[in-house]
Amino acid sequence: MGKMEYTLLDSGAGEKLERFGDYTLIRPCFQAIWSKSKDKMNLWDNADASFNRKKGLNWQGRDHLPQNWTIQINSVKMKLSTTDFGHIGIFPETIQLWESIQSQIKVAHAKQKQPLKFLNLFAYSGGATMAAAHAGAHCCHVDASKGMVQWARDNAELNGLSDHPIRWIVDDVNKFLQREIRRGVRYDGILLDPPSFGRGKSGELYKIEHAMLETLDNVKRVLSDDFSFVYLTSHTPGFTPTVLSNLLNKMGKNGNISSGEMLLSSIDTFESKVINKQSISNSKNKSKNHNETLNIPNGTWACLENR
Ligand SMILES: C[S@@+](CC[C@H](N)C(=O)[O-])C[C@H]1O[C@@H](n2cnc3c(N)ncnc32)[C@H](O)[C@@H]1O
Repeated sequence: MGKMEYTLLDSGAGEKLERFGDYTLIRPCFQAIWSKSKDKMNLWDNADASFNRKKGLNWQGRDHLPQNWTIQINSVKMKLSTTDFGHIGIFPETIQLWESIQSQIKVAHAKQKQPLKFLNLFAYSGGATMAAAHAGAHCCHVDASKGMVQWARDNAELNGLSDHPIRWIVDDVNKFLQREIRRGVRYDGILLDPPSFGRGKSGELYKIEHAMLETLDNVKRVLSDDFSFVYLTSHTPGFTPTVLSNLLNKMGKNGNISSGEMLLSSIDTFESKVINKQSISNSKNKSKNHNETLNIPNGTWACLENR
């Protein structure tokens, strides 16, 4: 484990409180239907900035934050900046995924003795691309947004990966994959995180329920014969781990499929009534605080591993 400059401090009342390096932010979290921790109220009160969607899209305290700042998560450095939509250039629930991808790449390198070819689709600011490149994979990074691809390139520079073999593609994912199929280009490890709704480079509409099957069919056709893995992740309601597993299963490739929820974890103080021997004899219950991990599910993943 290296440096970890991200912490989920607390959640509740439809919000989450997160620390990104030197700054703490409050942002919406509709899953957090429980109440905020009483002993963390001072942290909430002292947050640097908050975002809400109550009347349109609103930041408060955005002027307390720099234009952009950097955090480090294990081997990966990420440039952060507040966007009008409340995104800041990282989805922290994917951090565990970066680690799994790095381990799979290392296993593949030990077997194959040549760099794994990694394809990151809907790649956003490139956290997974950085992780894969740090693990030695040759990468191809695809996103329809020119601005997001530039952000990912800035991250590559920050990570000392400017000269690492990374292809940067600004295009619609399905158009790009069709081109790769025609050219006979193949990949050993693929990550795809299709949005519920998105736009391609020329405004092509991407609606997950219609476009996803085409994407998965294309993904199947760009997989190398002895591929290592396909990771499919989703933030779309109803795309449960079982649904994602079924989609990977239907690709008809040999391998093991595993799946789960992407989680954000905080340490929470729970108050519980404990009855100890003393209090039983006194017929009195005592309250006791104990710390436990509180997980917020924030999306789902499934993985097809070729073993
Ligand atoms: C939710 S983000 C993905 C998050 C990213 N995988 C991560 O974990 O950091 C969705 C990304 O898909 C891109 N996108 C949406 N529709 C697309 C399309 N048709 N082709 C390529 N990229 C698309 C958007 O520009 C955006 O960067």
